[in-house]
Amino acid sequence: MKILVTGGCGFLGSHVCETFRNEGWEVVSYDNMTKHELNRTGFRTDEVRDYNANILRNMGVEIVKADIRNREELLEHTSGCRFIAHTAAQPAMTISWEDPDLDFTSNVVGTFNVLTAARKHKIPIASCSSVHVYGPWINDTLKEDKTRFTREPLSISENDHTMNPGKSGLISPLHASKASAEHYVKTFADMFGVKAATFRYTGIYGTRQFGGEDHGWVANFSIRNIMHWPLTVFGTGKQLRDILYAGDAASAFLAYQRNPVPGTYNIGGGPKHMISLLECIELIDKLSGNKSEVKFGPKRDGDLSYFVCNMERVSNTLNWYPKVLPEEGISILLSWIKENAELFGGSSQKASGS
Ligand SMILES: NC(=O)c1ccc[n+]([C@@H]2O[C@H](COP(=O)([O-])OP(=O)(O)OC[C@H]3O[C@@H](n4cnc5c(N)ncnc54)[C@H](O)[C@@H]3O)[C@@H](O)[C@H]2O)c1
Repeated sequence: MKILVTGGCGFLGSHVCETFRNEGWEVVSYDNMTKHELNRTGFRTDEVRDYNANILRNMGVEIVKADIRNREELLEHTSGCRFIAHTAAQPAMTISWEDPDLDFTSNVVGTFNVLTAARKHKIPIASCSSVHVYGPWINDTLKEDKTRFTREPLSISENDHTMNPGKSGLISPLHASKASAEHYVKTFADMFGVKAATFRYTGIYGTRQFGGEDHGWVANFSIRNIMHWPLTVFGTGKQLRDILYAGDAASAFLAYQRNPVPGTYNIGGGPKHMISLLECIELIDKLSGNKSEVKFGPKRDGDLSYFVCNMERVSNTLNWYPKVLPEEGISILLSWIKENAELFGGSSQKASGS
């Protein structure tokens, strides 16, 4: 059985490729190898771009360098596939307001093309969205304690408002492109009978994540801790997410492939995985033995200060649950960063603190 993973050489995509390879699938990664936000991390960009691809090649994954905006190429490569995992995207809010054209063509046109391929070849598809589609109204519902924002009820469900800026928030092009893509997923499911689902992911973290200030905050904080670089928290640091380990995030695709019930699913860690930025930094410091050097900057427009998934739908329908708790997942991430310190621009000896 063959799966096509769009964005397969990205962070989440690489974990999806690995998950399906481990299940004996023939796996094709379809990725244009751009990952624009890498250019601003200061990491060794060329090596980083190839890193996931080389690991996947060694696992026996076929690497196709191509663009989801190229519909003909996509139609060709999806032929013969039994499932599409759509992870390719422009995922960063900062880049979405700097280059809304890139954001629109990647996230809306790209998803439309992937859905068209799924429809033509009659293939089930799950497409990545983000909890950002709910919009910053959630920020108006928060209380705060010493280290985190909190609210009642704790979790937010798929039936809550989406695209709602609230009193003080802004809707960014990323909100618009992800929400538009969701509408197309639903339309293709309802009107054309495509077995299509949207996964609204919370913050995901794990190995092979080259997180920077634009995208991937758990990895960004972890890399900076290991490399002894200062980190910047935008806002108070009480922002909170139910973070999700990459292997768990990838296993949701497997759950959907086994039982492809179209719909929109919140996918996160839920209340057991809640952690604020300040708490996460403290945990990273405890696990690594290094003290993070923390600076604070102004809160960024459009940022969601809080999200915890209500996961009744995904648990009841797809029988999917997250397994890896933050302490375990962050330990794995820190070990991976230490082993690969040269990719970030440092020597592993210095980075390990030894
Ligand atoms: N990482 C998170 O915390 C998180 C949270 C919520 C949602 N998501 C969503 O999950 C998906 C994967 O995110 P990620 O963190 O792995 O991002 P990533 O940037 O690591 O991976 C995306 C991959 O898509 C590729 N790509 C971009 N544009 C492409 C195009 N036009 N054609 C083909 N390939 C293209 C990139 O080269 C990259 O390898 C995205 O849709 C993102 O919005 C991620």
